[in-house]
Amino acid sequence: MRPIKEASDLFVKAKDHTMHLIKRINGRDINIRIEGTGEPLLFVHGFPLDRTMWKYQIACFSKTNQVIAPDLPGFGASSGGDDCGGAVVTMEEFATDLSSLLDDLSIHEQVHFCGLSMGGYIAWQFFRQHRSQLKSLILCDTKASADSEEAKQARVTTAAKVLEEGSEFLAVAMAEKLFSSKTIDEQPALVEEVQETIRSTSPKSIASALRGMAARPDMTGKLKDIDVPTLVIVGEDDTLTPPEEMQSIAEAIPNSCFVQVPEAGHMSPLERPDEVNRAIRDFLSSLT
Ligand code: MLT
Repeated sequence: MRPIKEASDLFVKAKDHTMHLIKRINGRDINIRIEGTGEPLLFVHGFPLDRTMWKYQIACFSKTNQVIAPDLPGFGASSGGDDCGGAVVTMEEFATDLSSLLDDLSIHEQVHFCGLSMGGYIAWQFFRQHRSQLKSLILCDTKASADSEEAKQARVTTAAKVLEEGSEFLAVAMAEKLFSSKTIDEQPALVEEVQETIRSTSPKSIASALRGMAARPDMTGKLKDIDVPTLVIVGEDDTLTPPEEMQSIAEAIPNSCFVQVPEAGHMSPLERPDEVNRAIRDFLSSLT
């Protein structure tokens, strides 16, 4: 690793030979894949994943945009999981970390914020707290509602279990929920790749994010106030954040469009990248 600007600002080469920037943000080392030039396009991953879930979008949009794909604190190659010790990390805190990250990268232009699932929960908070940094929203396979009491309890139980047993059981349990049955049958290597990401995520980071998601506010009543162009994308076989729920999000946001991706589950950008990239490209072109 070699310093380029200041002691806290490093470029490193990852195993897949891509160049990454490490930035010290709010006391944690944040790993960022940053590539290309053009309007900034920020990709925020879901739970309990990392920036590699956007590999097809990074490859596509780094030709036309400045792509910024961080690992959230505690995930991927970013630090932070151990110092939070499993305590709650809120969606608001993640949004603030991303805002600080953009400032630190001297990105003063408004960004297109693309978030999947937990990345979408963070997007709502980014809109609420850092609206001036936002040009548009791209929401993939996410929800606006808060957790039911039952769902909150299930997250608390899973957090305790992962702290006690490690993340292996979650890697197994989540595969079925994240992917369509077609993807599970036809793309086993992709499923294994995502499971490996889950296995290598710190149990403390997983527990913190579970507790943070359980504490997230209901955004349903606030959707009508979203005043940036918004694209809503969902896999037609997504059972975690089903198409009907995402369609009602799109209907509630004044300037929005809705795209349903065939034969995809919750991980639509990984499962059907060509369709998702086309939807994002058409949306971004419509804004210029
Ligand atoms: C995700 O993909 O980020 C999770 O499914 C979000 C959640 O557990 O609510």
